[in-house]
Amino acid sequence: MCGIVGYIGKSQAAPILLDGLSKLEYRGYDSAGIAVYDGEHIRVQKSVGRLKALSELTHDGATMPGTAGIGHTRWATHGAPSNENAHPHFNRDETIAVVHNGIIENYLKMKKYLAGKEYHFASDTDTEVVAHLLDYYYKGDPIEAITKVMHRVEGSYALGIMFREHPGIVYAVRKDSPLIVGHGKDGNLIASDVPAVLKYTRNVYFIQNEEIAVLSEDSISFYNVDGEEIQKESSAIDWDINAAEKAGYEHFMLKEMYEQPKTVRDTLNPRIRDGAVVIEELGMTDEEISRIEKIHIVACGSAYHTGVTAKYVFEGMARIPVEADLASEFRYRNPILRENDLVIIISQSGETADSLAALREAKRKGVQTLGIVNVVGSSIAREADKVMYTWAGPEIAVATTKAYSAQLVAEYLLAVKFAQVRGEITEAEAASYLKDLQKLPEQIEMLLSNKERIQHFANRYISARDVFFVGRGIDYAISMEGSLKLKEISYIHSEAYAAGELKHGTISLIEEGTLVAAVLTQEELYKKTISNIVELTSRGAFVLAVTNTGNTQIEKAADYVIYIPQTNRWFTNSLAIIPLQLFSYYVSVGRGCDVDKPRNLAKSVTVE
Ligand code: F6R
Repeated sequence: MCGIVGYIGKSQAAPILLDGLSKLEYRGYDSAGIAVYDGEHIRVQKSVGRLKALSELTHDGATMPGTAGIGHTRWATHGAPSNENAHPHFNRDETIAVVHNGIIENYLKMKKYLAGKEYHFASDTDTEVVAHLLDYYYKGDPIEAITKVMHRVEGSYALGIMFREHPGIVYAVRKDSPLIVGHGKDGNLIASDVPAVLKYTRNVYFIQNEEIAVLSEDSISFYNVDGEEIQKESSAIDWDINAAEKAGYEHFMLKEMYEQPKTVRDTLNPRIRDGAVVIEELGMTDEEISRIEKIHIVACGSAYHTGVTAKYVFEGMARIPVEADLASEFRYRNPILRENDLVIIISQSGETADSLAALREAKRKGVQTLGIVNVVGSSIAREADKVMYTWAGPEIAVATTKAYSAQLVAEYLLAVKFAQVRGEITEAEAASYLKDLQKLPEQIEMLLSNKERIQHFANRYISARDVFFVGRGIDYAISMEGSLKLKEISYIHSEAYAAGELKHGTISLIEEGTLVAAVLTQEELYKKTISNIVELTSRGAFVLAVTNTGNTQIEKAADYVIYIPQTNRWFTNSLAIIPLQLFSYYVSVGRGCDVDKPRNLAKSVTVE
């Protein structure tokens, strides 16, 4: 949600903080602030709006001299976006500064407690409680004060902290919100995510829950919640730095859409050997796979939509019952999980609060868990029993595209593997599925190269009021994602409907000219969906159909047709989603929306 950075070293801190925040702006972007120790005081500057405003205010950091500092980009949870609520927050005599990502759940109780001790609050945030609590417990030893605060606060936090009395040190601590430490040549850094430090180092430490990091110019040490020093191993990040930059594309979303062939290839290829699926990291014996009685796929948003697709694929191909669940529902409904069930948590960030809580709920109930995760070392990756990475690299645009595509193929691979082990498909069938999967990158490339046709169509719909996405079976799952993509980046109201459900209510919303995107990739359902299209067009709808090459019967029913190449019926989502992503993108661009950072959203939803 929010992004934090910190730096201590030989260079000027403010420009490094601003640069780091610019890589984290996708996490939150309603206000920003930095604190820098100027040799005497900790000075703070904040600004409402995008980071650009803070950069202008501080002349790109030049007005804030000093070599140690912390910074924050905010996505408001407690209190409106304002200077008062922007971070960093101070204790009462401005000797302790704090930046925070997460939510302090018992902040009202703490606020009352502190108010009784003559503490006054300048903001509506939960974070300010941490600054005052640190002040309350600080008796000269920062680690002691930090551990005491950790024992008092409930909720999630990644904190960057500076004490004026210890000017050569930046402190960091986390619980259930991501935080890394970068070990640079000229200084050390903290950040919510790797792209913020890549320019300075590839050598990072992943801070685990309830660990404290203490950074000076030339040293990094770690402590546990009891204040005892602990040893940690660093990891080398091998991401290409360009992967986190726009590389000439107008938006990250466009760049990431174009990276989908590579992402799909990178996720598939290491796991296909000699015509068979080899998922070493799965660590499950054939016997264990055969014993699975039910799969629960749990995720949020687009990741959940891949889970809905996977439900059809696992059930159809591997004949295993599957329930696809929204993590925010799963975690609170006391789900029935049995000994031989498998819970699959899907998450790009690996930090989504509801997905993480769902994972913990499954583990608490003693069920096997598998994380399908993009961010290496993230909380879900660490806590799941097994982890299968989607090799999509850093995804910066808030609206997911390439991680979505990578998740889909990871799930297809699992389905093929499970189906073969359980004797539902033969070796030859598995090999043929894998051949189809390996054709996907090229087919996606082909669809992307036809973007002009979709761009042209999108331009006609930039003023649409409502758009409906319909389909049956997997096509319904594709529609859900198509609809989410459009609404989140263009702010046009859209809904996804199972095509057969329309006449049970929603069809009353169809008026002359209403745009309906119909997805028809399941041959055995063509006729049924075409009947629904006819019902729609006869009530005035304009129908855009996305269908397989060869389904020419559609031309009589739909107004505009986009064909996708032939693939196996289980894998059509990977292709049909491409024109829908492009459509959303060009509608958003045409409307002048902020494509990469849509309003009210954040990339990594680390709060409930
Ligand atoms: C939509 C989108 C979100 C995420 C959801 C889960 O474009 O990106 O719906 O899919 O917030 O996020 P992760 O996958 O990080 O758990």
